[in-house]
Amino acid sequence: MPAPMVIANWKMNGSLIGNASLLHQILSGSDAFEHLEVGICPPFPYLEQVSEQVSHSRINLGAQNVSAFQSGAYTGETSAAMLKDLGCRYVLLGHSERRQLFQESDHQVAAKFEAALSAGLQPVLCIGETLEQRQREETGRVVSTQIQSVIDHVGIQGFTNAVIAYEPVWAIGTGQTATPEQAQEVHAHIRQLLTGYDASIASQVHILYGGSVNAANARSLFSQKDIDGGLVGGASLKPNDFLDICRSAS
Ligand code: PGA
Repeated sequence: MPAPMVIANWKMNGSLIGNASLLHQILSGSDAFEHLEVGICPPFPYLEQVSEQVSHSRINLGAQNVSAFQSGAYTGETSAAMLKDLGCRYVLLGHSERRQLFQESDHQVAAKFEAALSAGLQPVLCIGETLEQRQREETGRVVSTQIQSVIDHVGIQGFTNAVIAYEPVWAIGTGQTATPEQAQEVHAHIRQLLTGYDASIASQVHILYGGSVNAANARSLFSQKDIDGGLVGGASLKPNDFLDICRSAS
């Protein structure tokens, strides 16, 4: 079983002054990270600030997106090599906000996954169904397709050094968390899909839950057999809540 993992997704929030204060408060409770792997994914402009401030802690750095291209004339894009250069360990890929608001396709997400792996980054592949898809009982099919497109692109070996985050779209930022049982059912489905390719990779890969994780619901979610931690949005901007969530995972 992998050690638990909690990753903060700050989304498009923060400022130099606000980040410094948030990080200071998080670092003052760093006993919370002793038994887990923890990461923070700030917006691109603050990667260096966060990297410097967490450099003597157990906190790892991650980015929220990456270009599928390596370098060159791609105005406004950021390459995987640049993220690696800045000390990133992880990169979030295929977050539902990117899929929905920026029309990222499964194919593009798979290409980004490959670019991240080639630069030595650990992709955090975000997958999940919309409310309509859940109501039509398509959850299993949707998450399988999202994972399958990455397997088709890089092979199952690509998951040796990757993380999967199951984030039901209807639970993200809504306060409407999946119940531990609902989440566990999908996590088990994901692990089973991977087991069909490689049982050892399937048992080692972190499958995180994301979607309105908070200090009150984290423990019951993380206690489920196939939930290896969380990807935390809103609550990661509140230092005490984030620390409590981390404590719930360890
Ligand atoms: P939330 O976001 O915790 O605010 O629901 C999670 C995410 O989008 O990763």
